Amino acid sequence: MTERRKRPVQASRVEMTEIVMPNDANPLGNAMGGRVMHWIDVCAAVCAGRHSRTPCVTASVDNVDFHNPVPVGSVIVLLASVNYTGRTSMEVGVKVWQEERPTGHRNHVASAYLTFVSLDPETRKPRVVPIVTPESDEERRRYADAEARRDARLSVRGSTPKGS
Ligand SMILES: CC(C)(COP(=O)(O)OP(=O)(O)OC[C@H]1O[C@@H](n2cnc3c(N)ncnc32)[C@H](O)[C@@H]1OP(=O)(O)O)[C@@H](O)C(=O)NCCC(=O)NCCS
Repeated sequence: MTERRKRPVQASRVEMTEIVMPNDANPLGNAMGGRVMHWIDVCAAVCAGRHSRTPCVTASVDNVDFHNPVPVGSVIVLLASVNYTGRTSMEVGVKVWQEERPTGHRNHVASAYLTFVSLDPETRKPRVVPIVTPESDEERRRYADAEARRDARLSVRGSTPKGS
């Protein structure tokens, strides 16, 4: 049996920047939650695919909390990284910030955890991903937290992980 590849968290980290345009907004002139969720999904998908180097699909999204409204014209920054890898799935964490132009200060807008599954490009069946290797204390904390969330998800779905 061949040994699984390993890839550090930093190798697939993604930063994505957007400006909130009028067609992204609700009638109050703030970004719609659905638009922010779309950006979160895109940013996380790039991150997952960068880690696995295969096409990936969104399998699930944990609850998304919106902490602050974001007015039209705001600069939004999304940061995504792979927190944890299972056999064929990856948990990607995305944090969304509003960047203040005059100071560069960032206000926390939203956070989300998404699970992506890597697919074989030909068979379109789940395909084994490289093991993510956390290197910093922060990455190790995220890995441990993500492992606990995965266990919770599996128990809700009533499934057990397949062997690696
Ligand atoms: C995600 C999908 C590929 C899983 O297929 P499946 O046949 O259930 O695959 P398996 O049972 O072999 O599970 C594969 C992995 O997916 C994970 N998984 C499956 N369903 C999941 C869910 N709802 N949430 C989180 N992880 C999930 C499993 O835990 C497993 O992870 P592991 O290999 O790391 O242990 C399949 O359900 C699918 O194609 N869904 C549609 C995805 C899509 O189109 N998304 C875009 C939005 S519509």
